[in-house]
Amino acid sequence: MSVMNSVMGWVDDRFPASKMWKEHLSEYYAPKNFNFWYFFGSLALLVLVIQIVTGIFLTMSYKPDATLAFSSVEYIMRDVNWGWLIRYIHSTGASAFFVVVYLHMFRGLIYGSYKQPRELLWIFGMLIYLALMAEAFFGYLLPWGQMSYWGAQVIVSLFGAIPIVGDELSLWIRGDFVISDVTLNRFFAFHVIAVPLVLVALVAAHILALHEVGSNNPDGVEIKKNKDENGIPKDGIPFHPYYTVKDIVGVVVFLMFFSIVVFFMPEMGGYFLEHANFEPADPLKTPLHIAPVWYFTPFYAILRAIPDKFLGVVTMGAAVVILFFLPWLDRNPVKSIRYRGWQFKAMLTLFVIAFVVLGYLGMEAPSPVKTFIAQVATAIYFAFFLLMPIYTKMEKNKPVPERVTQ
Ligand code: HEM
Repeated sequence: MSVMNSVMGWVDDRFPASKMWKEHLSEYYAPKNFNFWYFFGSLALLVLVIQIVTGIFLTMSYKPDATLAFSSVEYIMRDVNWGWLIRYIHSTGASAFFVVVYLHMFRGLIYGSYKQPRELLWIFGMLIYLALMAEAFFGYLLPWGQMSYWGAQVIVSLFGAIPIVGDELSLWIRGDFVISDVTLNRFFAFHVIAVPLVLVALVAAHILALHEVGSNNPDGVEIKKNKDENGIPKDGIPFHPYYTVKDIVGVVVFLMFFSIVVFFMPEMGGYFLEHANFEPADPLKTPLHIAPVWYFTPFYAILRAIPDKFLGVVTMGAAVVILFFLPWLDRNPVKSIRYRGWQFKAMLTLFVIAFVVLGYLGMEAPSPVKTFIAQVATAIYFAFFLLMPIYTKMEKNKPVPERVTQ
């Protein structure tokens, strides 16, 4: 033990190892009333690590070449030792990432975690979300299946709707007149190195911002306002060991669900791995029905709901960008939904229904009725945000407790 101590002492004189451990773990005081919704931050971290590790191993056998990509994935699935497992963990991990992140963001909505002083933490979160979408989009082209190819074709051609520069811009993104080997190579570069670097840096900034302001909690009470004589929040407990142990419970339950998918339903009925993607990309054969993977379908439905292509692209972009402004759209100073009036609860419920309906419609082939429903859902989606400054001012709040409740 004394050897250990002297080694640590030697390191600490040269690098703030113990200082960081204390600051971010053993002496980071988190509210003692975290609930179910607080599992998803650590789970998002876990999935990030899973994706990076399995990604590294996939890269060892994958070939970013239009003539070889599809068969190199088949080779991974059939011939590489444990290749099938690594690929299924990675493909399931992509969907799991969005499941976890959507739940994580929803927690932010219900407990007002985006409000002052956590606006920047929220903005880092939104940048992570954008990076995650880019990462998923680039990765999806790599297996070079029919849906990889045509999905990328549809999305890149959307840039063509921008007036004046549109055509040049989509040409520049593809590096060719259609999605081709050139596109595959650059998407590979973005997927395996550029975007992951950005993601990891953003996650570090996200956690630093969180630790600067401190965690919110299900009561939306600032625990830093009630400190004991040693300056420790009365409602806080050290993150380590209390929440490290609690988070392990979340990890175990998550891995149970995750393993069930990986081992028993890796395609998830075509939602995680789309059926059309088991056919190699064919630039001469457009699939009848092109739809993105489930996590993009709400935005795809918004795009299709608008008759004009350019306005559709703008509306779809706005649907994501508007989330950045949440801290300033919500005018109610009360954070937690527990103590807010009915207006926010009602609008949030409508918003969630609209988001799920859009997600469903985005997977379906369009019809006049479905397009109409998508238009209504799009209107509700935007009403949630745009009317927020009005209805959040009208809310009659319940009294917020001084200290956290158990
Ligand atoms: C790779 C993706 C992400 C990772 C690894 C990550 C990680 C974390 C972790 C570890 C926490 C603390 C534990 C917790 O509160 O659950 C946290 C908190 C938070 N995250 Fe994220 N996050 C990610 C994405 C996002 C996104 C997309 C948003 C929103 C746009 C977001 C918004 C927040 C907020 C507001 C908090 C503070 C919550 C509170 O204190 O109530 N995060 N994040």
